[in-house]
Amino acid sequence: MNNSSDLRIACVMVGLPARGKTYIAYKVSRYLTWLGIKTQIFSVGNYRRELVGLNLPHTFFDPHNTEGVKKRREAAACALDDMITWFEKDNGTVGIFDATNSSKKTRAWINETLTARNIQVLFIESVCDDDDVILCNIKDVKLSSPDYSERDPDEATEDFMKRIKHYEETYETVTEENLTYIKLVNVGSQYIINMIRGYLESRIVFYLMNLHTRPKRIWFSRHGESLFNLEDKIGGDAGLSPRGEQYALKLPELVRQNIGGRPLTVWTSSMTRTIQTARHLDFPKKQWKALDELDTGVCDGMTYDEIEAKYPDDFARRDEDKFNYRYRGGESYRDLVLRLEPVIMDLERHENILIISHQATIRCMYAYFMGLSHEQLPYARIPLHTIIELKPKAFSCEEKLYHVDVGSVDTYRPKGQTARKLKDDKFVSDIPVSSEGASGEIVDSNNAPILPIKPIGITRTNTR
Ligand code: SIN
Repeated sequence: MNNSSDLRIACVMVGLPARGKTYIAYKVSRYLTWLGIKTQIFSVGNYRRELVGLNLPHTFFDPHNTEGVKKRREAAACALDDMITWFEKDNGTVGIFDATNSSKKTRAWINETLTARNIQVLFIESVCDDDDVILCNIKDVKLSSPDYSERDPDEATEDFMKRIKHYEETYETVTEENLTYIKLVNVGSQYIINMIRGYLESRIVFYLMNLHTRPKRIWFSRHGESLFNLEDKIGGDAGLSPRGEQYALKLPELVRQNIGGRPLTVWTSSMTRTIQTARHLDFPKKQWKALDELDTGVCDGMTYDEIEAKYPDDFARRDEDKFNYRYRGGESYRDLVLRLEPVIMDLERHENILIISHQATIRCMYAYFMGLSHEQLPYARIPLHTIIELKPKAFSCEEKLYHVDVGSVDTYRPKGQTARKLKDDKFVSDIPVSSEGASGEIVDSNNAPILPIKPIGITRTNTR
């Protein structure tokens, strides 16, 4: 049972079909989940499909179709009930109620039902009057929905336009002064905000104000191999090794070949190895302290073998729960996520950013875009001497890796290495550790080349 003093927020989407509501719901959910806030989307469309099946004609959504109206109300009531149960039984913090919720009457019903249960309600309305954007949304997103799975695309578009017309008959934009809301007009051109309360609501509103739907790409690279990497030491502020320097020298060409003539901005951490890696790139640069590597506290400057010998319990605890383990006097991955939140906000606002940073910090940002769980995040493979390109899509993120043919050590430590190492003194990583190929070669997320296919040396002992 949820303690009545626990904060619970329902984000209730509002807007005509094809206004990006589901996209906004999905982004908010991903952002909050990344921050560690228990969040779930309740999609009324899914409940309706469950109730009455797929491939319904537009006439089902006609407000004069009494059977259609009844079924849609039933689906909405089921979704709302499930969301309330989730708050109360599963201790959810932010539930997102995804539906059109386009009349004052519906909103009053939702608001009363939820506030009576001590759940704060934040309405998020998306208003869009740009016909091109609406059409794009229909073609990109709606036609791949299960509603139109076996329909001809032109016929499906026409049907969907008629569905929108039915909704327009009863649609009332949010103006209720007693409600808490944010209205997003033409995603990013205007915001109208009413009665926002408390820190978490403000964070959600601030996030929404940074959100844009323009297509974009983001590039990540770790610094070149450092002198500490060669010695298997963590932390510190060492400069680049000779091979790290070679990577820095090759980086401008790799960027020119694969990123092209875009007006790029380079963000680095404030640490020597990322600044040295970026120094041959002829683009505007910005240093962020927030991009500095995870602070390893008392273990700074030690090798993993030294840590294991000096702090065996800590070493084992880190292996058990790497996301939450905090180095003595240092940070955990959970701390790092919070430190990186302003960087994510800025990344949502900007385009054409190349970030040169560190393994742990890139893992956190990568996890945000790729939707990795907190369990997966500390094990994301972010190889040295490789640019990772991310292309966020409506409900996913495309990834490409561009590898440079300058060798490097591998700093990857798979989960459970302590246990396996103890069992078998000659531990061998089961994950490929380095690939040799042409500069700019595209490799997949397992660091195995996609084009062209070349054999790679993958075996190494005591991989970290
Ligand atoms: C749906 O049935 O697709 C959504 C329900 C609604 O918002 O009207």
